[in-house]
Amino acid sequence: MMGQSLPKPALRPFLPADTPMLAVIFIAAIQELTGDDYNEAQQEAWASAAEDEAAFGVRLAGELTLIATMENSPVGFASLKGPDHIDMLYVHPSVAGQGVASMLCDALEKLAGGRGATKLTVDASDNASKFYKKRGYVATQRNTVTVNGEWLANTTMQKTLPSGGAQA
Ligand SMILES: CC(C)(COP(=O)(O)OP(=O)(O)OC[C@H]1O[C@@H](n2cnc3c(N)ncnc32)[C@H](O)[C@@H]1OP(=O)(O)O)[C@@H](O)C(=O)NCCC(=O)NCCS
Repeated sequence: MMGQSLPKPALRPFLPADTPMLAVIFIAAIQELTGDDYNEAQQEAWASAAEDEAAFGVRLAGELTLIATMENSPVGFASLKGPDHIDMLYVHPSVAGQGVASMLCDALEKLAGGRGATKLTVDASDNASKFYKKRGYVATQRNTVTVNGEWLANTTMQKTLPSGGAQA
């Protein structure tokens, strides 16, 4: 991952065998990229969703999950729940800030739009809300949710997709 010419990310669909690697990415992203907005107890509670790997795999398989790879290794993933809700978007800290989440989000927006969705919603974590705002998502509601005994704040955000479905 180091060096001046960084490998280009590619996208592919989720396979069940990816589950352990995605659990690693999920936990590392929470531990290393959310500390400005959530305390350690909140981060641990949030990351615990990947502790039961089988259940985590079922969640990933039950949604439209896309994986970003670099040199064939998963480095990030995103999932669409139902027709128009982004459930998960996580990028490994070692490749953060290189456009991986943007690529994943572009693809989910195109897929959802192509299937007829007119909008996308997301319950954005506080650290991710600037990312979504840059992409045209607008805050609609502030939430406080309990996760594994801890209270975590997030913001429901919404983006209107171009009419006619698929974007260029
Ligand atoms: C949020 C997250 C997915 C962003 O991944 P990423 O691959 O680093 O994002 P990108 O490189 O595509 O960033 C795209 C733009 O958003 C900006 N951005 C990304 N994360 C940001 C942050 N935490 N704060 C401010 N801006 C941010 C980038 O600077 C970039 O701006 P630019 O286009 O002007 O350069 C990643 O930080 C992450 O996994 N966070 C922890 C998990 C999480 O909170 N997920 C969201 C759950 S809803």
